[in-house]
Amino acid sequence: MPPGGPSVSQSFAPSPEFAAQANGKAELYDEASTEHEEFWAKQARDRITWAKDFDQTLDWSDAPFAKWYVGGELNAAYNCVDRHVEAGNGDRVAIHFEGEGGDTRTITYADLQKDVAKAANALESLGVAKGDRVAIYLPMIPEAVATMLACARIGAPHSVVFGGFSADALRTRIADAEARVVVTADGQFRRGKAAPLKAAVDAALDSGDNPVEKVLVVQRTKGDVEMKEGRDVWWHDVVDTASDEHTAYPHDSEHPLFILYTSGTTGKPKGIFHTTGGYLTQCAYTNSVVHDLHPETDVYWCTADIGWVTGHSYIVYGPLANGATQVIYEGTPDTPHQGRWWEIVEKYGVTILYTAPTAIRTFMKWGDDIPAKYNLSSLRVLGSVGEPINPEAWLWYRKNIGGDKAPIVDTWWQTETGAIMISPLPGVTDLEPGSAQKPIPGISAEILDDEGQPLHDPEAVGYLVLTKPWPSMLRGIWGDPERYKETYWSRFGDKYYFAGDGAKYDEKGNIWLLGRVDDVMNVSGHRLSTAEIESALVSHPTVAEAAVVGASDETTGQAVVAFVILRGGAEDHGDDTVQELRNHVAKEIGPIAKPRSIMVVPELPKTRSGKIMRRLLRDVAENREVGDVTTLADDSVMNLIKDGMSSGK
Ligand code: WTA
Repeated sequence: MPPGGPSVSQSFAPSPEFAAQANGKAELYDEASTEHEEFWAKQARDRITWAKDFDQTLDWSDAPFAKWYVGGELNAAYNCVDRHVEAGNGDRVAIHFEGEGGDTRTITYADLQKDVAKAANALESLGVAKGDRVAIYLPMIPEAVATMLACARIGAPHSVVFGGFSADALRTRIADAEARVVVTADGQFRRGKAAPLKAAVDAALDSGDNPVEKVLVVQRTKGDVEMKEGRDVWWHDVVDTASDEHTAYPHDSEHPLFILYTSGTTGKPKGIFHTTGGYLTQCAYTNSVVHDLHPETDVYWCTADIGWVTGHSYIVYGPLANGATQVIYEGTPDTPHQGRWWEIVEKYGVTILYTAPTAIRTFMKWGDDIPAKYNLSSLRVLGSVGEPINPEAWLWYRKNIGGDKAPIVDTWWQTETGAIMISPLPGVTDLEPGSAQKPIPGISAEILDDEGQPLHDPEAVGYLVLTKPWPSMLRGIWGDPERYKETYWSRFGDKYYFAGDGAKYDEKGNIWLLGRVDDVMNVSGHRLSTAEIESALVSHPTVAEAAVVGASDETTGQAVVAFVILRGGAEDHGDDTVQELRNHVAKEIGPIAKPRSIMVVPELPKTRSGKIMRRLLRDVAENREVGDVTTLADDSVMNLIKDGMSSGK
């Protein structure tokens, strides 16, 4: 059975006290199912401040290109900041920032309003206008949030590139989005050390032709950086000195808010783009009903990096639109010690914690005694995102972090869906460890078999599809509408959004997500494409051919395992070659893509049409009996591979 099963029958009902105060009530399911568009129109009007009301909730006439809240106008930054100040909540803390080295900053909504206005004025002074793209390559510091909101305020779509990505990865993303300005920092603190960032921007821009005119640099680590005359400017010179007043003009509901690159089945990352009104509505709604955020009393902490969609939707847009008080932590969970997260929970009295299964499994490995040293009694809701959470990790999380009482919301969604789609409601649902359970009110899903027929039999494994458009859906792939249609709306025809995940129902009708069905891997909750890593490997002069698979891994969910054929044969390689290839992948893409192991093989298993049979390589990587080899062009290949490995080559 694929990961995610078997189902366990233990179930946890919400306590009456929790249910009574919860934002998400059972009635929402009925409301949403009877009147889909009315339901979403109500969410948009209740939760978002519109400069101009919309005249049509959904225009699906040009499917699969959706328009939500047609004719409406709003400013996302105004919704996330200014309106809270206008409502008298300027003194409320927006961000408790905790630096890795222990430096802290407390930023109220009134402070944030000024920070965003200054950043917006500075970006405009650097030539950024509505519609221009801005690349953001920053660590987890408050300037990252201010920059994103400043872009939203101007109407300049941001493209955040995760700070762990390499110069090459940054270069391709800057080029694809044609970004005019890059916002970065001198460096970032990771595991107690300052690591350079600006140097990667320089390397990315060095190769001559690029669209970037200005680079805005935050001073974070005070490391040495080269500032290129006429191109590079310091944040403290242009932002800190800018006016703290800036008019937030409304933008069309469908104005692009951001582009975020994610891995697909080909080597070229896809620029997923999201627009303003629908995205903001669903982020605010889900953060309220799924995380059960009560902005007056909660202290919320989402541990994601803003370089991923979870950081966009559940650090920046959802919680800030709702006026939340949140913690932002810069560093790693084990710096300077393995109790750092729990120390932070205790220090700020965190009430809602949203994190990833890979982190939970790491804490399990570190031991129960570490969280036990801290007072975690403030926690009242726990969330999980990014990959299936195995029941053991779920139960550990509830017991050791949630004090045996905090509900856990296992939330399934994607960069493409923009916001949470399948999840329990913590005040309504009887929780089943390991299952994301049900589409939230307003969302409809099905599981289809190979022929596109709905499957309802318990345990029958099929493909997850979404059957109705939703407000925060991607509006396309930047610059490539055809790829959008082909990737998401063709596998089962244009009525079904194909998510690329395997799924099944259990006897109680809960949905279990079973991992990707395409050539996308999920390593520590990060999406990586096999093709992207293969092309990084073959770009090395010693590699003739490469195949990459995701093999199951106890901590990271999946791990990257590569099989390579070396030029000049498998004989003349040493450990150094393998080490060099691992580093080469880190340099080309980023350390997260580094293969856990690389096996040098004489051949790769291929079908007669030349397609690599990754299924067989996965069997090898997971130490299983190799499956059916009858479709191989040459069925002796698997023996060659196994013999080569057992002789240590
Ligand atoms: C996986 C992250 C099971 C899934 C928000 C999806 C999950 C991919 C879950 C999207 C979950 C995310 N249970 N699988 N609760 N959440 N996934 O775009 O395979 O980085 O397609 O978005 O992560 O990853 P992405």
